[in-house]
Amino acid sequence: MKKDGQEKAGQESSRRRLRGLTAKDGLIRHPFDLEYGVRTSGLVAGRDLHSGQRNDRHITAYYAIAPSVFQGILARWRERHPVAPLDAYTFLDLGAGMGRALLLAAGHPFRAVLGVELHPTLARIARTNLARWRALGRVEAPTRVYCRDVAAFPLPPGPCLVFLFNPFAAPVLRRLLRNWKSGLAGQAGPVDLLYVNDEQAGVLAGEPGFERLFRGKILRSRADAAADRAILTQQPGAEYAAPPWEDCSIYRWSGNQERKASR
Ligand SMILES: C[S@@+](CC[C@H](N)C(=O)[O-])C[C@H]1O[C@@H](n2cnc3c(N)ncnc32)[C@H](O)[C@@H]1O
Repeated sequence: MKKDGQEKAGQESSRRRLRGLTAKDGLIRHPFDLEYGVRTSGLVAGRDLHSGQRNDRHITAYYAIAPSVFQGILARWRERHPVAPLDAYTFLDLGAGMGRALLLAAGHPFRAVLGVELHPTLARIARTNLARWRALGRVEAPTRVYCRDVAAFPLPPGPCLVFLFNPFAAPVLRRLLRNWKSGLAGQAGPVDLLYVNDEQAGVLAGEPGFERLFRGKILRSRADAAADRAILTQQPGAEYAAPPWEDCSIYRWSGNQERKASR
C-alpha cells in the first residue's frame, strides 16, 4: 500500500521528540532493547500522542508489551486449536507503537505480520526497529508497518490473528467490530483476537458471534516484572501500575458467513 496523506501530514511532527521517550522524562531501557539494539521502551501518555486524527482522543497510551506476556498469550492461543496452520494466518497488531509485539510476531512463520500505528513518530521508529530485526536475521514472515488509523484499515484476506495491547477506548473497538461485521473492512473472518490488558472486554462480551476462548491473568517473567516495575515507578506522576501479570482474553469470530470454527 502507498503512503497516505495522514502519514505525510505527520512527517513534520514525527521529527519531534515525544514526551516520555527521553532520559529527562525518566526513560529506562527495557532489557529487550539492550539485548537486540532496538528502541521500544518508554511510556507516552495518550494525551501526548497527537497525530491530528479524530481518534487521537481514544488512544490509551504507548507502552510496549512484556515479551513474556506476548509469548504467553500466543502459546495459549496455539493450544486452542486455531482453524488453520500458523502459516495461513496474518498477524495484525492494531496499535503497533514502536513495534515490540510486531518484532516478536515476525519471529514466527506467519503468512504475514502487519502493524498499524496512528502516530507517525512511533510508526517511523517501528520501521527502523524492523530493519534492525531483519539485519539480525530474526524475521520469518513478510512484515510491514502502516501509519494509519485502525478504523480505516481493511482486514487482509484469509485467517487473521488480531493483537491488541489495550491500544484504544471502547468507541474505536466498537467501530472496528462494526467494520468487520458490515464487510466494509474487507475479508470477513475468520478472526482470532488476542487482547492483553483487556480493559474493554465488556464490548466483546456483548458481541454476538464472538466466542471467548480464554480469560485469565498471564504472568510476566521475573525479568520482565522487574524491568516494568523499574520503568513504571520512574515515570513522572506514577500514573500507571505494574502488577506482575496482565489480564488477557482470547476471542474467536468465525466471520460474516457464520462459519462454525472447528475446534
Ligand atoms: C499500548 S501501545 C501497544 C504497542 C504494541 N502493540 C506493543 O504491544 O508493544 C498502543 C498503541 O496503539 C496506538 N493506537 C491507539 N489508537 C490507534 C488507532 N486508532 N489507530 C492506530 N493506532 C492506534 C497508540 O498510538 C499506541 O502506540
